[in-house]
Amino acid sequence: MAKQTITVIPGDGIGPDIIDATIKVLDKAGCNFDYEYADAGLVALEKHGELVPEETLSLIKKNKITLKGPLTTPVGEGFTSINVTLRKQFQLYANVRPVLSFKGTKARYENIDIITIRENTEGMYSGLGQTLSDDGEEAEAKSIITREGAERIVTFAYETARKEGRKKITAVHKANILKSTSGLFLKVAREVAQRYPDIESTEMIVDNCCMQLVMNPEQFDMIVTTNLFGDILSDLCAGLVGGLGMAPGANIGSDCAIFEAVHGSAPDIAGKNLANPTSVILAAIQMLEYLDMGDKANNIRKAITDVIESGDRTTRDLGGSHGTSDFTQALLERL
Ligand SMILES: NC(=O)c1ccc[n+]([C@@H]2O[C@H](COP(=O)([O-])OP(=O)(O)OC[C@H]3O[C@@H](n4cnc5c(N)ncnc54)[C@H](O)[C@@H]3O)[C@@H](O)[C@H]2O)c1
Repeated sequence: MAKQTITVIPGDGIGPDIIDATIKVLDKAGCNFDYEYADAGLVALEKHGELVPEETLSLIKKNKITLKGPLTTPVGEGFTSINVTLRKQFQLYANVRPVLSFKGTKARYENIDIITIRENTEGMYSGLGQTLSDDGEEAEAKSIITREGAERIVTFAYETARKEGRKKITAVHKANILKSTSGLFLKVAREVAQRYPDIESTEMIVDNCCMQLVMNPEQFDMIVTTNLFGDILSDLCAGLVGGLGMAPGANIGSDCAIFEAVHGSAPDIAGKNLANPTSVILAAIQMLEYLDMGDKANNIRKAITDVIESGDRTTRDLGGSHGTSDFTQALLERL
């Protein structure tokens, strides 16, 4: 079988450290990938004068599978979010964000296993119609939901549920207030749900969902929702299992996929050997599952479980006192 080539974007801030840790783990687990490195983010702006150079886009397209570190989008006018740009350019319509409890994280809950499926290209993040009046007194943005987009993401959620043996999907919305956009999403979600009688379908208004996730998160199995709600809810879910250092995400399209951490470039801890690389390593596990390499994925997950549960060289966010490199070494010794 031909060797799989992965496009690797180390990114900004803590990105290069946690990507480096992930590549070491993949290699030690015997994944036998080839890697082609590409720049994006601030590092690319400094080197090539643009946030996402053409060469990076070509590599993402050519290799179809990308492992990506977090990117810093400079604040201010003239810079569209790079992540939003990549998701739109490659039509990565499904953002799959699983959270799983690992014993030993000192998180508030112990039995969390929730996948949030977030629509990744529409809604409030369509990037359309963003205006600010000349006097700076009125700002506007456009939210777009299409039947096609809603049907595609909800169907993706149900198909994922079947594939992964999940039992229940909660469609999260705000159709009581956002009657057109969230209303259309909910209508389509109800229609799609009827095609999957083997899976329990429920629905919840987003504000109640936030409270329910904090009060009684064990009731959730999978969540499907629109772009903005999914972005916020998935960070909330990360908080249930020990924070952003534990939260991976996959951006899936029909042709390409980009695997990354949920979090950003963490400028407050960049260059200090403090970042928890688990987020990107878990994203790499999603990548292995996507590539039908479930055995390797399981081995790496087992190593993470063991290191965190035993508290052997864990990072500060997990209650330990070690850095990225020690934690990575503990993982490598178990693989
Ligand atoms: N996917 C992406 O590339 C992505 C996602 C979100 C934010 N961003 C960008 O990242 C930059 C910084 O954003 P921010 O500071 O609001 O959010 P952030 O996610 O970078 O950090 C939030 C907090 O979580 C901590 N944290 C994040 N990852 C961690 C890890 N692996 N281990 C331990 N602690 C970790 C940080 O130290 C910080 O205290 C911004 O420019 C933003 O645009 C990028």
